[in-house]
Amino acid sequence: MDALELLLNRTSALKLTEPGPNASELDQIFRSALRAPDHGRLRPWRFVVIPSDKRERYGELMSELLHLRTPDATPEMLAGERDKALRAPLIIIAAARVKDHPKIPEVEQVLSAGAAVQNIMLTAEAIGYRAMWRTGAPAYDARVKKMLGLDDTDVIAGIVYLGTRAGGSSPAVRPLPADFVSTWAG
Ligand SMILES: Cc1cc2nc3c(=O)[nH]c(=O)nc-3n(C[C@H](O)[C@H](O)[C@H](O)COP(=O)(O)O)c2cc1C
Repeated sequence: MDALELLLNRTSALKLTEPGPNASELDQIFRSALRAPDHGRLRPWRFVVIPSDKRERYGELMSELLHLRTPDATPEMLAGERDKALRAPLIIIAAARVKDHPKIPEVEQVLSAGAAVQNIMLTAEAIGYRAMWRTGAPAYDARVKKMLGLDDTDVIAGIVYLGTRAGGSSPAVRPLPADFVSTWAG
């Protein structure tokens, strides 16, 4: 796929199905993630893969953790949280392991993790898959981080759902540069 065509036309996929990337495709996806710009070579990226056969367990635990966050969550909400794990054949949780650094603040390390997520999404699309970048309350829940084997101080940048597009792309209106870009007049 032509790189410029991909960059100018990429979209998130709202619904994903089998197949997801295989091991060598996933390796390519992560190699591109590790090309993310990274101030000071801190390599803040951490990725946790939820493979297809672990999604049910992951979904059950996410539902239990929702219950702890929101004790009055309804059975429907708990079931919905559990079923989110089945939205795609593969899920990647992308985090920044933030280091205390005299010149490189946390925001720059999290931005690098965000750039890694974008590389994941673009590479997935380039090799025929699609993705959806999500977060929500679980991304900010210390218990979720612990369940995933992350540190309390890690910052989850994205919960990325990966697979084959099923149905529509995101209907987001694509704005024009003129509304967002100004040229400094000096
Ligand atoms: C950090 C981050 C977190 C996001 N979290 C969610 C989310 O939890 N749920 C959601 O529907 N979209 C979320 N989005 C937005 C979608 O990933 C997507 O960008 C949006 O639906 C627009 O589609 P597009 O990527 O095709 O422009 C998030 C985006 C970012 C950058």
